[in-house]
Amino acid sequence: MQLTALTQPTPEDLRKEIRRCRQMTKNPFGVNLTLLPALVPPDYAAYAQIIIDEGIKIVETAGNSPGPVIRQLKAANCTILHKCTTIRHAQSAIKMGVDFLSIDGFECAGHVGETDITNFILLSRARQSLGGVPFIASGGFADGQGLAAALALGACGINMGTRFMCTVEAPIHQKIKEAIVDAQETDTELVLRRWRNTTRLFGNNVAKQAVKVEKESTTGKFEEVAEYVSGKRGRQVFLNGDKNFGVWTAGQVIGLIHDIPTCEALLTRIEREAVETLQLKQDLYIQDGDRPVSSIGTVGKKTNNPGAEVWGVGKSKL
Ligand SMILES: Cc1cc2nc3c(=O)[nH]c(=O)nc-3n(C[C@H](O)[C@H](O)[C@H](O)COP(=O)(O)O)c2cc1C
Repeated sequence: MQLTALTQPTPEDLRKEIRRCRQMTKNPFGVNLTLLPALVPPDYAAYAQIIIDEGIKIVETAGNSPGPVIRQLKAANCTILHKCTTIRHAQSAIKMGVDFLSIDGFECAGHVGETDITNFILLSRARQSLGGVPFIASGGFADGQGLAAALALGACGINMGTRFMCTVEAPIHQKIKEAIVDAQETDTELVLRRWRNTTRLFGNNVAKQAVKVEKESTTGKFEEVAEYVSGKRGRQVFLNGDKNFGVWTAGQVIGLIHDIPTCEALLTRIEREAVETLQLKQDLYIQDGDRPVSSIGTVGKKTNNPGAEVWGVGKSKL
């Protein structure tokens, strides 16, 4: 579990939140520190210092130019998980000394980056190109089938954002959870592309209006869209339950979310589904005596699961 540092207005508030979290759980937790373009950037070094002073050992960094913060945290022996949306950024982060990575596909909620590569490609590229540095998969995960797929592609686990919004424990209005359950995978909008700060939001009236203004603006001035994408109004949505009151973050995975379980029920279900999925897919192997033979490259061979026969593709970058 990760606390998000910048939901706290000041570094001192983060200190209080870390202490509050410690009283609520005996389990370990980390803190996320996201570095994003802002007119007045937060004092990231001060937030990082509170994280260090409070004895947090696992920190998730995300966003632009994390070098100085990573150096500060590494000097204090923190384990760093860096979240990124491109292999190039992942490789730079490894050079800066991060311990593992969270690979965030284009499906994800929030900052999707500018390259629009979805996890089917991104995760395999991570497996091929990160020199064995471990990574988790992020963006588009809500069930055990997704977890099984992420593991198959080389990830060590998954990170979920939107799915956890739709749990009993999530401290947001019930009507917003219901709006997520009612939504389809097509109900998100990408805003701020013009300013290379592309962000995936729930596709409500305000987000649609923001996109319209962004596309039609002749000046290209951020001020024209600023009132629509106000974080302050967005946060009110979670309190007043009016899904159209402001913009709020959600990923394409909303199309896969159909209920509002407790976190415990959700995680138990995901684990069970993943195990079942991985076991069931063993049928895709063709038995040749006692020797299992991968169906890759076995064009035309008979299997006990003919519909699952896989045709050899003859090309691999590995
Ligand atoms: C409401 C909400 C707030 C988020 N805030 C942050 C944030 O402050 N920093 C960050 O790095 N990621 C943030 N994220 C992104 C998640 O950490 C994660 O990368 C993303 O949700 C994964 O995609 P998914 O929603 O499909 O699971 C947020 C996501 C949601 C849904």
